[in-house]
Amino acid sequence: MIQGNRDGFGSRLGVIAAAAGSAVGLGNIWRFPYVTGENGGGAFLLVYVLFILVIGVPVMLSELALGRRSQRNALGAFKKLAPGTWWHIIGMMGIAAAFFILAFYTTVSGWTLEYLFLSIGNSFEGQSKEELNVTFEEFRNNGYLPLLWQLMFMLFTALIVYKGIKNGIEKYTKLLMPALLLIIIVLGIRAVTLPGSGAGLTFLFQPDFSKINADVVLQALGQAFFSLSIGMGALITYGSYIKSNEDLGKTAFSVTLTDTLVAVLAGVAIFPAVFAFGIEPQSGPSLVFITLPMIFQEMTGGYFFALIFFVLLVIAALTSTISVLEVVVAYVSEELNMSRRKATILSAGSISVLGILCTLSQGPMPEIHIGNRNLFDILEFASANIMLPLGGLLIVLFAGWYMKREDLYDEISNKETLKIHLIWAYYFIIRFLAPVAIALVFLNGLGFFGMFGEGDFS
Ligand code: PFF
Repeated sequence: MIQGNRDGFGSRLGVIAAAAGSAVGLGNIWRFPYVTGENGGGAFLLVYVLFILVIGVPVMLSELALGRRSQRNALGAFKKLAPGTWWHIIGMMGIAAAFFILAFYTTVSGWTLEYLFLSIGNSFEGQSKEELNVTFEEFRNNGYLPLLWQLMFMLFTALIVYKGIKNGIEKYTKLLMPALLLIIIVLGIRAVTLPGSGAGLTFLFQPDFSKINADVVLQALGQAFFSLSIGMGALITYGSYIKSNEDLGKTAFSVTLTDTLVAVLAGVAIFPAVFAFGIEPQSGPSLVFITLPMIFQEMTGGYFFALIFFVLLVIAALTSTISVLEVVVAYVSEELNMSRRKATILSAGSISVLGILCTLSQGPMPEIHIGNRNLFDILEFASANIMLPLGGLLIVLFAGWYMKREDLYDEISNKETLKIHLIWAYYFIIRFLAPVAIALVFLNGLGFFGMFGEGDFS
């Protein structure tokens, strides 16, 4: 049942599919492997998993609870729960982060469409590592093709969001997520059975603590926030569509588990091959677009595996872009009193303008840059490593210190009808541990204490 006349999720499976769909995305399959590769492998994974458990789950639960309690969008939630205060700047920052993320995210989503078509046409066959590199660079530097794919991707996203929660987001994520899970499991199994997969698994799972420095810790925190879709109100927005009898704690836990599992599986699918073919694990954002086609064309059944991998990437990206666009659309339609249709067109259109600049900065117009980072890199770095952790910090401060403890408990326990086991741990984390940890990692990353050596914030 939908409360009032507000649209909402119809089933428990729908909630999980949509929230896990938001969390599992390019962050897991494209970003996680390359950030792990750049930050030393196993040690990074360890810090990342620690952040997921200690900070990720409590922040996610807080977001879902704030959303369901307020029945509003990411900004409206704070206006309703804390009227007349400045807390709604958390929402403003969240909307800005959604803009930034969707801009660079649709760039990469566009790449996934191109690669899906290349794999359908069996275009990787017979190409060497160098040739695959050239294929990728030529595509990226093409003046219109990446833009075309990007806009197409935004259009698909907007069409689903426009249909609303139950008939749009829930319907499609319920269909796409099981397919995604199946594909990533098949690919993981295939990768570990490749000859020479051992070195990759060692890189991923054997921590080398000398690799940990301030920057690695900050990157792990940023990746944890980005991957779980927390810190910008996506899960406040989704939380507001969840029925009053759903268990939010269980939802947060299942989503986190699914997300982490898919990230690790993506690592397992990619690193063995990276090492088996002598590719640099630090090769950055292009890693999956060069490495994987390389592996596929060398292995039996490669055509089929390449195809399902790029289908996987497209699905993963789409179920995430809809959640980011929904943050903006829910805000625009509810706070600025606009129809869903108009709000969707306005939001998708304005984000696309920034998105186009972002795509151009990655290819034909590298002059769109500040310092040594182009616009794409700036938006990626600023949103994942700065805005999301900062948003998460403010969200736990709000839930832990501003909200009445009884109200928060009431929401998490469904009016005390659920038995909540670790509630003391949750309070301790959101009031003390998470804020202190986020602030420390953050300031240290900015170079304030010089713990674990120099951070690289430039
Ligand atoms: N979690 C998504 C991913 O891992 O690809 C990205 C994302 C979606 C970030 C939604 C933030 C967000 F609100």
